[in-house]
Amino acid sequence: MTIAIRPATAQDQEQILALARGERVKPFGLYWPNFIVAERDHRIIGAVQLRTHRDGSYELGSLVVETQSRGQGVAARLIDMRLADKNGRILIITGRRYANHYGRWGFRRIKPSEAPPCIKWNYWMGHLGGGLISVIQRRSFNPLAVLDRPALADHSR
Ligand SMILES: CC(C)(COP(=O)(O)OP(=O)(O)OC[C@H]1O[C@@H](n2cnc3c(N)ncnc32)[C@H](O)[C@@H]1OP(=O)(O)O)[C@@H](O)C(=O)NCCC(=O)NCCS
Repeated sequence: MTIAIRPATAQDQEQILALARGERVKPFGLYWPNFIVAERDHRIIGAVQLRTHRDGSYELGSLVVETQSRGQGVAARLIDMRLADKNGRILIITGRRYANHYGRWGFRRIKPSEAPPCIKWNYWMGHLGGGLISVIQRRSFNPLAVLDRPALADHSR
């Protein structure tokens, strides 16, 4: 069965929430107009969103692909479409160990102090929250990184 990558519709909202909950993606700010989804056999199997924060910054996030569909480039296709018509500065908060993976889309690691205020806040909340949970659950801590793709020079798109 082929996988379709497309903008989300209102009908996808519940499935986006279910997918995010199932994979422990942060359950806040999951609103369908911001999402691109991957659909197979009338089922949402992956999603990614671009959020606009109060300070005007854009954050690519809530990237999730169901377990049995991973390793086939679905996440990469979702990111490709989400970024396709975007020229402005975009940031990502992700695990430090995955930072290099996003280089193919032009993202580079920056210091959290160089990020816009809302990204900085989300980074510290994730960093401190993740640290606390890893202590409570006695598992290893996966530190976060802030990635930045500066605005593209070509504004013709
Ligand atoms: C991360 C995730 C979306 C990747 O989906 P996918 O469709 O398998 O991704 P692709 O096939 O396009 O690419 C797979 C590669 O992405 C890498 N990757 C990139 N970012 C990643 C991330 N944040 N977390 C885990 N793996 C990531 C994987 O290591 C893998 O690398 P490899 O091919 O060298 O082994 C999926 O593993 C997932 O849903 N994980 C749980 C939720 C999560 O961690 N989301 C990321 C929040 S930033």
